[in-house]
Amino acid sequence: MNRYIQEANQQFISAYNRYPIILDHGEGMYLYDIDGKRYLDFGSGIGVCGLGYHDPNHTRMLQGQIEKLLHTSNLFYNVPAIEAAKQFNQAANMEQVFFTNSGAEAIEGAIKIAKKYHFLKYKNKNGEIIAMKKSFHGRSMGALSITGQEAYQEPFGPMLPHIKFAEFNDLESVKQLITENTCAIFLETVQGEGGIYPATDFFIKGVRQLCDEHKILMISDEIQCGMGRCGQMFAYQIYNIVPDIVVSAKGLGCGIPVGAIGTRGLATGILNAGDHGTTYGSNPLATAAVISVFNLYNQYRILSNVNAMTAYLDKELSELVLQKTVIKEVRGLGLMKGIELFAPATSYIKALQELGIIVIPSGTHVIRLLPPLIVQKEHIDMLVQALRKIL
Ligand SMILES: Cc1ncc(COP(=O)(O)O)c(C=O)c1O
Repeated sequence: MNRYIQEANQQFISAYNRYPIILDHGEGMYLYDIDGKRYLDFGSGIGVCGLGYHDPNHTRMLQGQIEKLLHTSNLFYNVPAIEAAKQFNQAANMEQVFFTNSGAEAIEGAIKIAKKYHFLKYKNKNGEIIAMKKSFHGRSMGALSITGQEAYQEPFGPMLPHIKFAEFNDLESVKQLITENTCAIFLETVQGEGGIYPATDFFIKGVRQLCDEHKILMISDEIQCGMGRCGQMFAYQIYNIVPDIVVSAKGLGCGIPVGAIGTRGLATGILNAGDHGTTYGSNPLATAAVISVFNLYNQYRILSNVNAMTAYLDKELSELVLQKTVIKEVRGLGLMKGIELFAPATSYIKALQELGIIVIPSGTHVIRLLPPLIVQKEHIDMLVQALRKIL
């Protein structure tokens, strides 16, 4: 293990702080390292592996597509992409979709739609975007520019111009930033990297109303909180609103890199041929993964499991808060939970690893729980027992 880690540190650009664990394979809720140590996983590879690891049906679907056709380019059609588009649009209440390779890439496309929407309306390039403080939308330059956390941006300036930041969950602060040039409001329905903060009902409905009144595109980043994680397929459905654009990734492929930009209403028909593209987008393997995920979510009744397990986890965590003074607050929606501590989370996360449990941080003081959506009560019991011990 140590030899591999030394090699990794030499060979990789050191963009990541990795834990000294080398994962080898997975099965259901469990991951195994190269020495055979078993970990119960409450991280899902940062909200990706909703179906857990090595799901036999997901694997079979992917294997079938690998045998048939891996890539076509967007010069041609392929059936998996068309099927995946139908399923995505129906599940997200969208009209049209553009498939990408990652979340950040989908955010870039959504920014371009917002800019062109303004350009078509006013024939100028002054379109302004309102984004939220403490947000996170990815690491590419556009996504970074709408990420409301200076630490991520600082060494990479200048950022894109015409971007303003409002306070998340403060409707008045959004209102104050709106001008005749505002073309889009970006928000995560549940802020993930910023510390697990769900939007309030008042805020999200208020943003929807402001967007309707001013003909601004409401753009929901559901890259982390979507795909069933919060108890509906997309978290905005819990609030009974529909954005003009939804941006998805992570759980969409359950392990295969794929993202999506969904559009409806004012956002549909903005991009024309030649405006945007990506070689791998709509790739048959990636879109076969999307079809498989929607089908298996349905077959396994994933949303009912998420809702049942959320109720159980909420009950267990609310008891833990009362017992452990190091816990400041537990927040979140569905199976996206943040346990904020009065102390830095790192040593607790490492202590859980020693006990064979993987959780991930959000910021410095929050233990983030993003279990695979197939989690059962017995797994929650194991987690809570370990938390009780280490906290
Ligand atoms: C809310 C949100 N938006 C965007 C991204 C960027 O996605 P990706 O890492 O696939 O580029 C992330 C990644 O963590 C995210 O959580």
